[in-house]
Amino acid sequence: MLPPIERAAELIARSKDLVVLTGAGISTESGIPDFRSPGGIWSKYDPEQFTYQNFVSNPAHRRSYWQMSLEIHPVLAAAQPNAAHVAVAELERRGQLRAVITQNIDGLHQRAGSSPERVIEIHGTALAVVCLSCGDRLPREDVQARVLGGETDPRCRECGGTLKPATVSFGQAMPERETALAFEHAERADVFLVIGSSLVVHPAAYLPVRAVESGAKLVIVNLQPTPCDEMASVLLRGKAGETMAALVELSAS
Ligand code: APR
Repeated sequence: MLPPIERAAELIARSKDLVVLTGAGISTESGIPDFRSPGGIWSKYDPEQFTYQNFVSNPAHRRSYWQMSLEIHPVLAAAQPNAAHVAVAELERRGQLRAVITQNIDGLHQRAGSSPERVIEIHGTALAVVCLSCGDRLPREDVQARVLGGETDPRCRECGGTLKPATVSFGQAMPERETALAFEHAERADVFLVIGSSLVVHPAAYLPVRAVESGAKLVIVNLQPTPCDEMASVLLRGKAGETMAALVELSAS
């Protein structure tokens, strides 16, 4: 039996419809903490505080959210793509990759060279801000500057509505177009590659299941076990950067 990395490389080399699903684990080597590893974001902040309902209905909560963003957003804005993001962009450059479905909001896939039209951001993006009333969309940096300048609960300058980063919070509706597209790609994939996700948040965590149900081979690159491990054809228990660099190298030959 070939070593797992070589079996995964063989699947990828032969793949005609490769689809990638990434989670926060692909960005930790870029300095962005993930959510559920020891020391991750949910070990510092209570996810209950981050529900959509709380943000919309509770001005005091919005103020503390924006206050906290003064500390967290600069880390995300300064992060650079790492070897794993670059490897995914390389798979696209070779013409093998149909789509990168990402749960991440950091825009690092696009910064690594993945074509924006092939990146499906199913949890939105932290790089933009939207008005929850009129839908006006602004660059995040413009609103961060306003918060830095003392606006503790920035309002829409078009209609006075509440402004919120264009991310999908718990309890908020998923983006319809992106979600439908993600499931379409999962159901058409011949190889479905998961990189850096605990696969515990739905509907994203259904994507590998639907891919396998539709006949895809599942490859998981993750430091910790996931609920989808038993259905994987290959499990690569390692760091995303070095594992993906090796995979791209081996699947080129
Ligand atoms: N290499 C490989 N795997 C890694 C690395 C790394 N360098 N760093 C972390 N991981 C793994 C962790 O072991 C963990 O299993 O990545 C996984 C990250 O899981 P989560 O922190 O749960 O992140 P994610 O799966 O993206 O969470 C999904 O939950 O809170 C919501 O909206 C948020 O999009 C997020 C969603």
